Amino acid sequence: MNMWDQNYSIEGYKYGTSPNHFLVQQEHLLPRAARVLVPGDGEGRNGVWLASQGHRVTSVDSSAVGLAKARALAERQSVQLQTVLADLADWSPAAQSCDAVALIFVHLPSATRQDVHRRLAQSLARGGILILEAFHPAQLGYGSGGPKDADMLYTLESLRADFSGVLEELSAFEGEIALDEGAGHQGQGYVTRWVGRAASHE
Ligand SMILES: C[S@@+](CC[C@H](N)C(=O)[O-])C[C@H]1O[C@@H](n2cnc3c(N)ncnc32)[C@H](O)[C@@H]1O
Repeated sequence: MNMWDQNYSIEGYKYGTSPNHFLVQQEHLLPRAARVLVPGDGEGRNGVWLASQGHRVTSVDSSAVGLAKARALAERQSVQLQTVLADLADWSPAAQSCDAVALIFVHLPSATRQDVHRRLAQSLARGGILILEAFHPAQLGYGSGGPKDADMLYTLESLRADFSGVLEELSAFEGEIALDEGAGHQGQGYVTRWVGRAASHE
């Protein structure tokens, strides 16, 4: 049982069952019935919501407990959700196999982050969209959730370097927001948001 399995071995859903607000705001960028990859989907609140919007969703996570809860949520909401149990550090989606990637609070150590981000970006077909929200290093001064290790927190500068030459930036933000996502993310927080689009892989 890994750390996330333990975190998810609770009554209810750690981040609630409602989707992330930023993801909901950006969903209009996706084509209809998009093939969406949701790495680090945990208990599935975002993957299940995307599926409820008519998208074809694959949720990937290294927590078996999280994915079991994601499948239960999908069943309760009568939507299809494909799940893959894998460590993103050594898992590769097929190149140009999806229309969107949604990375919501998936905090990776700097030693693997850029490789994982670039592989996920390369899984996008031309015109595909990557939506990312994560905590910024300034979140260390807040008590509303996230890793307590600056190495796992993201700035726009680090994300721009990760996706450089693979995705073009559509929007970017660093700043304070109000979080209301289950018991796991509550109160004021400081986040980094980034949206990019795959141009061409030629
Ligand atoms: C803070 S939770 C966020 C869960 C979900 N994205 C949400 O917003 O509700 C981070 C998730 O990323 C997953 N995760 C972290 N590192 C991972 C890795 N290397 N491979 C696969 N999943 C990972 C964890 O298992 C956990 O479910």
